[in-house]
Amino acid sequence: MIHPPQHIAIIMDGNGRWAKKRHLSRTVGHAKGAAVVRDLVKTCADLGVQHLTLYAFSTENWQRPIDEVSTIMGLFIQYLEKEMANMRTEGVHLQVLGDVSRFPPDLQQRIRDAQADPLAQPKITLNVAANYGGRWDIVQAVQAWQQAHPGADAAQLTVDNFGQYLSTAGMPDVDLLIRTGGEFRISNFLLWQAAYAELYFTDTLWPDFDAKELQKAIAWFADRDRRFGKLSSK
Ligand code: IPE
Ligand code: IPE
Ligand code: MG
Repeated sequence: MIHPPQHIAIIMDGNGRWAKKRHLSRTVGHAKGAAVVRDLVKTCADLGVQHLTLYAFSTENWQRPIDEVSTIMGLFIQYLEKEMANMRTEGVHLQVLGDVSRFPPDLQQRIRDAQADPLAQPKITLNVAANYGGRWDIVQAVQAWQQAHPGADAAQLTVDNFGQYLSTAGMPDVDLLIRTGGEFRISNFLLWQAAYAELYFTDTLWPDFDAKELQKAIAWFADRDRRFGKLSSK
């Protein structure tokens, strides 16, 4: 039996190209992209993955046309509305990572509702990274630390205690970082948390990324020798 990664993070890229190939609007691509999430969460939970972090909207994505931004926000609201009850019964604990203060008020309210009353013993935590940027996360962590320690010397900040101020506080670092859509870049995702992640890039466009593709990535992960700077992982 393959030991599953504890924390998988995914840059869900390629919705627009998926739609373009079919002469459909980018909106259809985003809708299809949102629709594949449910199965993947379930597959991860069944495989014993404890944390799944999905990059839904970056701090840079505000630079897209306003119509596209609104479409993505609308899909996010719909997703929370449709999936929340199901996810709860299936043991999924949802958390949103990112600066949500820039979102429309109704979306902010739904995010608050979704995160209220967390499950005591979730099967899996689903982190949706929305208006998220790795650089933002690091800066907000420093600010949060300072707020917790007014007047303290920054020398008290260490590599070991810093993580508890990041938006992923309490979660293990990313073991496997997947990017669909054929690009080889991080695009400001979990810069700190993915320091030792295994990086898996696939040409498959996000709407086509199914349970089989995920299992392929996990099998590839299982073959990696994670040395963490040592001479061998054994
Ligand atoms: C990823 O798909 C979804 C978001 C960034 C919100 P894209 O919209 O980036 O799709 P491509 O890269 O244009 O194909
Ligand atoms: C990364 O995809 C962000 C998300 C998947 C949310 P982009 O399509 O925005 O990334 P770039 O612009 O190609 O780097
Ligand atoms: Mg893209």
